[in-house]
Amino acid sequence: MSLESIRYKRGTLEILDQLLLPLQTRYVKVQGVEDGWKVINKMQVRGAPAIAIVGCLSLAVELLKEVIDDKKVMRQEIEGKLNYLVSARPTAVNIKLAADELINLANTLSADDNVSPSEFKDRFISSIEGMLKKDIEDNKAIGKFGCEAILNSLKGDGLVRILTHCNTGSLATAGYGTALGVIRYLHESKKLEHVYCTETRPYNQGARLTAYELIHEKIPATLIVDSMVSALMNTRNITAVVVGADRVAANGDTANKIGTYQIAIVAKYHGVPFYVAAPLSSIDMSLKSGERIKIEERPDREMTHIGEHRIAAPGINCWNPSFDVTPASLISGIITEKGVFAPNQLKDIIYMHQTVVPK
Ligand code: MRU
Repeated sequence: MSLESIRYKRGTLEILDQLLLPLQTRYVKVQGVEDGWKVINKMQVRGAPAIAIVGCLSLAVELLKEVIDDKKVMRQEIEGKLNYLVSARPTAVNIKLAADELINLANTLSADDNVSPSEFKDRFISSIEGMLKKDIEDNKAIGKFGCEAILNSLKGDGLVRILTHCNTGSLATAGYGTALGVIRYLHESKKLEHVYCTETRPYNQGARLTAYELIHEKIPATLIVDSMVSALMNTRNITAVVVGADRVAANGDTANKIGTYQIAIVAKYHGVPFYVAAPLSSIDMSLKSGERIKIEERPDREMTHIGEHRIAAPGINCWNPSFDVTPASLISGIITEKGVFAPNQLKDIIYMHQTVVPK
């Protein structure tokens, strides 16, 4: 059975508390928008697609409990709550794009005289629920396209060795995963020799979560600390790097977990292809380039402590940006659910496929 980070049935939502993994498996109830904001902000649930899905589902749970007979009031409430949820973590764009799409839907339903308040609510909630299925379908398509692209770049028909960073698997999505979905697909196709995952300091999503998923799926894997990446590429004949994304700008510049940029530089130096795997809902066409992507800064404690245990000298200053931006020039391809594209092709495909293109 694959790991389930989000458990949802109409009216009830629970998330697997990722701060407790890998040592404890505990689900936390999310009873509405306030809980949704908190579990995202505290990183009990994290990963760009999971943030969007849990945020929107928390609204679905809250709306179901409410009795509102006025569609305009409902529309207004939806907009306010979605904007609040978007503020929980600023870098991942998926929740913002989902919110824009849902606000558009609420506007349409509210303006349609043939739609009753209860039908408005039901159609709105159903639309949020559809995100779960779509995300898994998109991830499987990403897995397939990514697997093909990596195998095509292989000379001969050998097995591949992949390096990944952070956590992009079932825990970060509705299921299957993006970059980890590509790795999973390669493994299912019997083409994966080995995957290396970084520890991903400071918050250890690689050591805690990706390692946990890889063991759970019985995928042959080795954990390295972040400072071993150059040595790994120099000695272990890595076929490709595959990472996820929190926000991809129109020119392909990509914000992802801190440390991604230096891995991309090392990959370029060693001639190793560097792929970003992300759904189209991670692409922000409102930003021409990565310069204006807002980078979240997290509390010092995530650097100075592991759990309750202090590891840094008391009194030291810390800088803790949660993400960095990898320039498009270092990216070999962006693996999406619609195919694999060079960064400079994004503009052409996005207008065909994204429902809402933000201004
Ligand atoms: O801070 P996190 O753990 O939410 O960061 C997660 C990442 O950077 C992932 O690579 C990204 O969100 C893609 S998850 C499919």
